[in-house]
Amino acid sequence: MRQRLLSEGAKELAYEIREIVKKAVKIQALGIPIIWENIGDPIQKHSQVPLWMKEIVASLAMDNNTYSYCPSKGEVETRKFLAKLNNERNGVKISAEDILFFNGTGDAISKLYQFLKHNSRVIGPSPAYSTHSSAEAAHANADPLTYKLDPNNHWYPDLDDLYLKVKYNPNIVGILIINPDNPTGMVYPYETLKRIVEIAKEFNLFLVSDEIYLNITYNGAKAYSLSEVIDDVPGIAIKGISKELPWPGSRCGWMEYLNRDKDPEFARLCSAMDNAKMLEVCSTKLPQLAIPKILSDSRYMPYRLEENQKIGRRSKVIASILGGLPQLNFNETYGAFYNTMIFKDGILKRSQKLKIENPEAKKLVEDWTSGNDIALDRQFVYYLLASKGICVVPISSFCSDLQGFRVTLLEENEELLVKTFTTIREAIEEYVAS
Ligand SMILES: Cc1ncc(COP(=O)(O)O)c(C=O)c1O
Repeated sequence: MRQRLLSEGAKELAYEIREIVKKAVKIQALGIPIIWENIGDPIQKHSQVPLWMKEIVASLAMDNNTYSYCPSKGEVETRKFLAKLNNERNGVKISAEDILFFNGTGDAISKLYQFLKHNSRVIGPSPAYSTHSSAEAAHANADPLTYKLDPNNHWYPDLDDLYLKVKYNPNIVGILIINPDNPTGMVYPYETLKRIVEIAKEFNLFLVSDEIYLNITYNGAKAYSLSEVIDDVPGIAIKGISKELPWPGSRCGWMEYLNRDKDPEFARLCSAMDNAKMLEVCSTKLPQLAIPKILSDSRYMPYRLEENQKIGRRSKVIASILGGLPQLNFNETYGAFYNTMIFKDGILKRSQKLKIENPEAKKLVEDWTSGNDIALDRQFVYYLLASKGICVVPISSFCSDLQGFRVTLLEENEELLVKTFTTIREAIEEYVAS
């Protein structure tokens, strides 16, 4: 090419959660069946969308109006409905004008960082959900900036770490919260959120709260929306329907701007995103039409509560199998549908292995793990994949120095759930003893 095509930041755009799939597909092609514990797609894990929801979507699909463009910011009636939902909470109020629809939350995330100045940084949690950390790092052409979530304290944020990083880096303009969190399943306590708001106030920052799992809590937990804690600090809540309905294939998510009028720089950022969507025309229309019909249906709440209880039960089952393992630092989860467990210091070693029956799979894993630079948790994950046919994601690929792996809480079949996690426990014991 006449000139280099890619910006420096483009190398940050690896999406490890899907990278592991490429490896798993190679193992699968050798005849080893795979249990997919790597991706948060309830439908792929056999969750059945209720018939009444499908009927709502089907009737919209029969209406000719569904096939046109919609207003750039999104269907007005849907935005009014969502503004009302937010305003029923005890906090900052918004109007339909404060809502902007995207083609999925992932689209919202990449647009958010794209319009910030290169050296204006948003600090986010580590372990990091890579859609945020990679998009933010790519915009800044630098490594992601993170504050620690502490596995020794329920995965709650290390607020001193956050405070000091914000204080000594004047380029930080925003703080990201993912609440409930992917990949840890942690729900931010109210006091923690309040302290983060205080830090934002002290240093004149804006807040971003990814709330795609806001209504997926269980075992006694409640997640607070940013609007309930933010006072007069500017902020953006990011929401979607991929996980909640669940309808990940809808590619539908939205932003709610909070306190847009409180800061002119922040207001300009919101307008830039509104204008960019105008250039694109609009986002997916059919799911926007479905949202008020589904969420206001009297069957919706009982459905969501039952699903949450099922996730909560699975969380307990996994805790009963893996919680007592001396090799692991294990935390119970209270929101979203993932758990991240960490190997205690010194447990993982380069020489460890699992027996792999299939000679070609064995050769592949030996090739993948031959370099000395591969993270130790990744090595464990490759052996687990080829030896037991279970695909999980190494935590070192979530911008973390910790060694561990993420699983999902989505397996609908309880017998398979127990079998999978018992196999993981046995694999850890065998691997560590090898
Ligand atoms: C925290 C978080 N935000 C955003 C997304 C992306 O969701 P969407 O399907 O709306 O793009 C995910 C998907 O796993 C997620 O875990």
